[in-house]
Amino acid sequence: MKKLIVAAAAIAGLAAFGTASAAGDLAAGKAKAQAVCIACHGPQGISNNPEWPNLRGQKAQYIIKQLKAFKAGTRSNPLMTPQAKLLSDQDIENVAAYWSSLPLCNK
Ligand code: HEC
Repeated sequence: MKKLIVAAAAIAGLAAFGTASAAGDLAAGKAKAQAVCIACHGPQGISNNPEWPNLRGQKAQYIIKQLKAFKAGTRSNPLMTPQAKLLSDQDIENVAAYWSSLPLCNK
């Protein structure tokens, strides 16, 4: 059963990566993520703060949707909204490609 879940996660990860890499630039996303996002979301995309979500291995489509929602003001948070407003649509595609490309921890 555990093997099945790991395999399913790997396939899902590949699918998300495949989708994201069409639009997002992984290297540019990594540079932006390491300059900005890791301050709160952790160097590996695992946050230490209970109110700050993990980004590692998250679906690219979901990351893009949330960042656009913060930018548009339909989702709001005093810490995250200003961060999203600094990102161009291309930055959003890039950071989503990067965070989604990192494998989930296999615990
Ligand atoms: C100053 C701290 C801070 C920085 C820097 C920051 N974030 Fe966030 N982020 C947050 C907080 C806090 C939340 C939780 C917001 C909430 O509770 O709605 C969040 C939420 C998110 C979410 C929603 C996650 C979910 O599961 O719904 C995404 C996606 C996200 N951040 C991406 C990023 C990216 C990409 C960067 C870098 C470009 C970044 N963040 C930089 C603090 C930060």
